[in-house]
Amino acid sequence: MLDSLNDIEKQAMQALDAAQDEAGLEAWRVAHLGRSSPLMKVFSALGTLSKEERPAVGQAANRVKVALEAALVAKSEAVRQAALERSVREEKLDVTLPGRRIPRGRLHPSTQQLRRVLGILGEMGFQVYTSREVETDEVNFQLLNFPPHHPAREMQDSLYVDAGPRPDNPILLRTHTSPGQIRAMREAVARNPDNPPAIRIALPGMCFRNEQITVRSEVQFNQMEGLAVGRGITFADLKGTLTDFAHRMFGQSARLRFRASYFPFTEPSAELDMECFVCGGKGCTVCKGSGWLEILGCGMVHPVVLENGGYDPARYSGFAFGMGTERQIMLRYRINDIRYFWANDVRFLEQF
Ligand code: PHE
Repeated sequence: MLDSLNDIEKQAMQALDAAQDEAGLEAWRVAHLGRSSPLMKVFSALGTLSKEERPAVGQAANRVKVALEAALVAKSEAVRQAALERSVREEKLDVTLPGRRIPRGRLHPSTQQLRRVLGILGEMGFQVYTSREVETDEVNFQLLNFPPHHPAREMQDSLYVDAGPRPDNPILLRTHTSPGQIRAMREAVARNPDNPPAIRIALPGMCFRNEQITVRSEVQFNQMEGLAVGRGITFADLKGTLTDFAHRMFGQSARLRFRASYFPFTEPSAELDMECFVCGGKGCTVCKGSGWLEILGCGMVHPVVLENGGYDPARYSGFAFGMGTERQIMLRYRINDIRYFWANDVRFLEQF
């Protein structure tokens, strides 16, 4: 019996040497200290021994049990330590690696510019009025003093919507934001027909023209329209307002000029130019040699248009202006091709 206890101990110790990990240790514990292990069988056989043999065998079995348990604790500690060292060695964490970038969405450069312009006009007391993109010929042209066949339509080649026979009033995509002037005036008049309120609004949004697409022209583009209607509004108000706007938009030192122009819905009409910031007025490729950059069209609201909006031109007057906002971004960032705006190329869009 004592001999076999020595064997049990020797074999168990050898087997423990071979155990490599937690699973191996657990299997070893079941095999060598578990209920049906050879050692436990010795304990359960104690009762069959003679009175003389029993104490010596019992003591020896206890000693082996204590030795095996101590060896298991020591080996467990060694295995845990080895696993820790391996993970430190093999699973290195490089804290200097840059983190993974979370892609951030952003506003389209055109939206950013519309908001910049609205921010300035808002400070100057203009309220946003959004009008429809699909218009009738009547509101887009006729009520703005462009009768059918008027030569000024030539500059706004239109995209028509097939809406059945509407001989005198086809449906089209608005070619400018100016038809919103008519809708805004009529809405204001409907609120108070006897005494229409003064209006000061900014009308942003997409316009569409049937253009040959080139680096300079697209079939769609954004405009920002402004309209002020009230009593005693003069050309001086137009000049003062637009000069202030341009200075806030392009810098207080921007040099400006008003140049006589023509629009059917304003009289008199003008265009506002800014001295070319690239060449300082000497003439370069950006300003096409003229030294000036065109910023917007403007004028006093034509009496016929006031009347079409429901405002009596004998009592009311007003001014309007309209600007292309993609052009402003192109100047600001020296973008040389307008087609980038709607090409949906993130390499372009991510730069803003
Ligand atoms: N609607 C004109 C255009 O698209 C611009 C404009 C607006 C001019 C308001 C005068 C007044 O060319």
